[in-house]
Amino acid sequence: MEVRTICCIGAGYVGGPTMSVIAQKCPHIKVTVVDINARRIAAWNDENLDNLPVYEPGLADVVKEARGRNLFFSTEVDKAIDEAEMIFISVNTPTKTYGIGKGMAADLKHIELCARQIATVARTNKIIVEKSTLPVRTAEALRSILDNTGNGVEYDILSNPEFLAEGTAIEDLFNADRVLIGGDDTPRGKRAKQALVNIYANWLPKDRILTTNVWSSELSKLTANAYLAQRVSSINALSELCEVTGADVTEVARAIGSDSRIGSKFLKASVGFGGSCFQKDILNLVYIAKSYGLNAVADYWEQVIIMNDHQKKRFAQRIVRTLFNTVSGKKIAIMGWAFKKDTNDTRESAAIYVTDYLLSELAEVTIYDPKVKKEKILADLDYLNTRSEEENRALVNVVNDPYEACEDAHAVAILTEWDEFKTYEWERVFKNMLKPAFLFDGRAILDTEKLEEVGFKTYTIGKGE
Ligand code: NAD
Ligand code: UGA
Repeated sequence: MEVRTICCIGAGYVGGPTMSVIAQKCPHIKVTVVDINARRIAAWNDENLDNLPVYEPGLADVVKEARGRNLFFSTEVDKAIDEAEMIFISVNTPTKTYGIGKGMAADLKHIELCARQIATVARTNKIIVEKSTLPVRTAEALRSILDNTGNGVEYDILSNPEFLAEGTAIEDLFNADRVLIGGDDTPRGKRAKQALVNIYANWLPKDRILTTNVWSSELSKLTANAYLAQRVSSINALSELCEVTGADVTEVARAIGSDSRIGSKFLKASVGFGGSCFQKDILNLVYIAKSYGLNAVADYWEQVIIMNDHQKKRFAQRIVRTLFNTVSGKKIAIMGWAFKKDTNDTRESAAIYVTDYLLSELAEVTIYDPKVKKEKILADLDYLNTRSEEENRALVNVVNDPYEACEDAHAVAILTEWDEFKTYEWERVFKNMLKPAFLFDGRAILDTEKLEEVGFKTYTIGKGE
C-alpha cells in the first residue's frame, strides 16, 4: 500500500521536524501536522522562518521547501484525521504529576484523548503510528479504545519511536542510524508495516529500517534512552572521582572511548543531562519494572537519575563553596539556559536547577542564552514554585548581551555548551568582573590554562588539580 495522506497529531519538537522531513523527502504525500495549541501552529505558519516554534539547525530550509506544497500546519484536527490514511500520534507524554504513579509513570492522557478523537472522527480505515515515546504495551490500550466504537472502521497500530536528538534533529532524520517499526505479524500487520517502511525508504537505505513486534519496538525506545543516559551518569560519576584524584575526565573519556567496544560518543562529563526525555523515560522504565515486581531492575536504572541529580547539586554547591561559602548578594552570571547547544528547548535543563539552588542562597543571578527568551527563563523558574514570581524577578536579570551578563559579577558559570562561548573575549569579560573572578565550566568546553593566564580562578567539571 502506498500512503498518500498523512496526519500528525502534535506539532512539537518531534512532530514538527519529523513531518517536515517526511514531506520534503516525499513530495507525493500530503502531510498535515495538527495541534490544539493555536499559537504553535501560527508560529509554524509564520512567513518569517526565524519565528518557527522550534529552533533546529537546517529546519527552516526544509520547512521553506515543503510548506504550502505538501506540508501543512493546522488546528483543524478532525479534518486532518478524516482525510488521512496514516495518523502519527506525536503528543507529549510527560511524567505524571498526580495520582497513581505520580512522579514516575508516563502521563498518557494526551495519547488517550487522541485515540478517542480518532475513534469519533474516522470513517475510513487508518494506520495509527505511535511516534510518541510510550510505556511498553500502550498499543494494547490504544487498540481497545479504537476498536470499541462500533463504526466498522479498522485500525492497524504501529510503533515507530523517534530517535532524533534536539540540536541535530534534521541531520538525524536525514541520516538516521536506524528507523524502528513495530507491528503485528499478521498479514494485515505486515502490510501496515510495509506501508511505513515504504515512506522511509524514500531516503533511507532499506537495511537501516528495522521491523519488530510492537512490544519490542515500544520497549527499545525506553531502553535506548536509558542506555544513553546511563553513559552520561557513568562518566559524570567518574568526573567527581577525577576531581579528587587529579585525573582529568576528558583524558579518561578519550582513553576509554578509544576502545571500540566502548566507543567515543556520549562520554562528555557535564553538569548533568537535561532534556524532556531521559529523566522521564528512565522513570517510566523504573515504574514499569516496579509494577512487574522487578525491584532490583528498578533500583538499577533509578541510580542513573540519582547520579544526575547529584551532579547538578554538587556543581551548585561547588560554586557556593568556592565563593567563600556564601553567595548572598553576589552577582553570578549564568551562561546558557538550554539543556544543550543548538536548541531553544529548556525542559529539565540543568541550568534551571543550578540557578534555583543559587537563588535559594540569595545570589543575584544574571542569565544569558543566545536562543532562549526571557519569558521562558522566568517561567521555568516560576514553575519550580520554590519562591514567588516577584522574588524570582527581584533576584534574576535576563540579558541579551553576554558581556553585560558578566559585568560586575563575582563568578561566571557555563551551563550550556554553546559554541559562541568558546570565542568570547574572556579578557574583556575578566576586566569587568569583581576580583577574584571565578569561572565555573560545567561543560568542560573552555581552555582552563588560557583562562587562568587571563586571571580567572577556574573550576572545570571533572578536572582534578
Ligand atoms: P512537545 O510538547 O514539544 O509537543 C507535543 C505537542 O502535542 C504539543 O504542541 C501539544 O500541544 C500537542 N498536543 C497534546 N495533546 C494534543 C491533542 N490531543 N491534540 C492535538 N495536539 C496535542 O513534545 P515533543 O518533544 O515533540 O515530544 C513528543 C513525544 O515524542 C514525547 O512522547 C517524547 O517523549 C517523544 N520524543 C521526543 C524527543 C525530543 O527530542 N523532544 C525525541 C524523541 C521522542
Ligand atoms: C535524547 C536522545 O539522544 C535521542 O536519541 C532521543 O530521541 C531523545 O533523547 C528523546 O527521546 O527525546 P536529546 O535529549 O534531544 O536526545 O539530546 P541528547 O543529545 O541526548 O542530550 C541529552 C542531555 O545529555 C543533554 O543535556 C546533553 O548535554 C547531555 N549529554 C549528552 C551529556 O551531558 N554528555 C554527553 O556525552 C552527551
